[in-house]
Amino acid sequence: MKLADELIAEHELIDRALGAFRTWAQAWARGEGEVAHGRAFLTFFQRWAHDFHHAREEDVFVPALVAEVSLPRERGPIAVILDDHVVMGRLRAAMTDSLDRDDAGSRQRVDELAREFSHRLWHHLDAENSVFFPEGVERLRKRGVYELEGRGPTADELEAKRAVEALLERYPPLRDATVYRGDGCVMCPAYNETCRGLEREWWTESEWDELSQRLGSD
Ligand SMILES: [Fe+2]
Ligand SMILES: [Fe+2]
Repeated sequence: MKLADELIAEHELIDRALGAFRTWAQAWARGEGEVAHGRAFLTFFQRWAHDFHHAREEDVFVPALVAEVSLPRERGPIAVILDDHVVMGRLRAAMTDSLDRDDAGSRQRVDELAREFSHRLWHHLDAENSVFFPEGVERLRKRGVYELEGRGPTADELEAKRAVEALLERYPPLRDATVYRGDGCVMCPAYNETCRGLEREWWTESEWDELSQRLGSD
């Protein structure tokens, strides 16, 4: 599906932008780094990652899963994805607030919030790449939905993207050894907290039947 392929491809830049933003935030906490660059990163996360990217997930992909596949919106993977978007919005607002104050404590706070934001968004990208999109696309395909239509970016959204692409060389993406990333539900922080995992949230009776048949034939 082209829309899902595009959304997954967009994750690559968001992933690297997070690392670069962390490099900038650490410099900022040391009293270095330019405030304009911090604002450019936050504008990217608002305009490109949220207004353009998250919005197509929320306005096109999720409604299709609910309407065509009858997947629940209020629990399971969809609820986790939507809640992540909300929490990341709060973190973006808190970072913008701290950036505007520009004193030693606020600089430290921006760095701490950037760490929290990056961990949350990295896990979010991994969950979408490895579970939400592949499993969602497969379920839509079984219902005869092969393509979904998402809008193109606005001029402002493209400008936010270009501004961050230009900063990637200046702030080489940080590799954070304290975040344990990986594929599948078990790597998702929501697993067994607010979501019981793909099988218990999304599997149909026929999928459970196929599993028991396969296990029975071994
Ligand atoms: Fe998302
Ligand atoms: Fe995404």
